[in-house]
Amino acid sequence: MKLGNYELKGSAALAPMAGVTDRAFREICIEYGASYVTSEMISSKGLTMGDRKSGFLMTIGEKEMPASVQIFGCEPETMAEAAKLAEQTGCIAVDINMGCPAPKVAGHGGGAALMKNPALAAEIANTCVNAVKIPVTCKIRSGWDDDNINAVELAKLLVQAGASAITVHGRTRKQMYSPPVNYDIIRKVKDAVPVPVIGNGDVTDIESAEFMLNETGCDHLMIGRGALGTPWIFARINEYFTSGKILPEPGIEEKMAVMIKHIGLLCEYKGDYVGMREARKHAGWYIKGMRGAATFRREIGELETMDQLKKLAERVIESAG
Ligand SMILES: Cc1cc2nc3c(=O)[nH]c(=O)nc-3n(C[C@H](O)[C@H](O)[C@H](O)COP(=O)(O)O)c2cc1C
Repeated sequence: MKLGNYELKGSAALAPMAGVTDRAFREICIEYGASYVTSEMISSKGLTMGDRKSGFLMTIGEKEMPASVQIFGCEPETMAEAAKLAEQTGCIAVDINMGCPAPKVAGHGGGAALMKNPALAAEIANTCVNAVKIPVTCKIRSGWDDDNINAVELAKLLVQAGASAITVHGRTRKQMYSPPVNYDIIRKVKDAVPVPVIGNGDVTDIESAEFMLNETGCDHLMIGRGALGTPWIFARINEYFTSGKILPEPGIEEKMAVMIKHIGLLCEYKGDYVGMREARKHAGWYIKGMRGAATFRREIGELETMDQLKKLAERVIESAG
């Protein structure tokens, strides 16, 4: 798939996930074959007001390219200013969040609330498109709720406004993250717009990746939760779609080595104190499903140092053997 003039390598991108897709995780996912990665959602207001936290979220390193920066908000001019700031990072695209259900975003007119206001959504997209040279993409849901499924109409407006690609998470705002994905609506969007459509929702392995592509005809995949603790999912999916081979999952030693590298990067970028606290959820994801995982959970919740993490990894490997 091409994003603007940029030819993506691979079949699946990393979805934006607040609190998860930080610089460390993005780097790991690129190493394991993500076609591109997306930042956590960043407040356009925060960015334009010079908020330090928003600026930190937008730091993009060389090792995580190609990367896209996702912004949220509901004021066209502020979003355009934020898009310009995002462009300065060297990212390959700016993504507009039109799907976040959280009250702190949708309750203020941004995120999924834009699905209820297609004219404003299109104005925001158009103002951003005119403000930057890189492609602007939009990430939408199927609709606000079951009575308001409008992804097709909205996608058409966004493309008219200049959006270069549309990601569709096949659920409504009301459905949040769990009911089955509506593949039909993703197919309808794909049939309705001339730009690439990226299918998102519940792609967790090769089988579900193939299912999403077959059911929807989408041009590309975007994976969120399916990459938590399993960043190698991108490499396995890429291999399958290029050679038809199903690579085995990495061995336990490799999995633990990836975890240690990932958490080492977290500490490098955020400092040991914050890094080790954020490491706990990632370590839990990495050991999920492994033998003895339940007994390691309490220990993971108390991790303070890299040394403790390495010792834990050794014991996870031993108990698997
Ligand atoms: C913890 C978490 C944080 C998320 N943060 C964002 C976000 O910042 N921006 C966004 O557009 N979507 C966000 N999402 C939604 C994901 O990008 C994705 O659309 C959704 O999880 C469905 O895909 P999946 O089944 O592959 O996880 C988030 C999802 C999760 C689970």
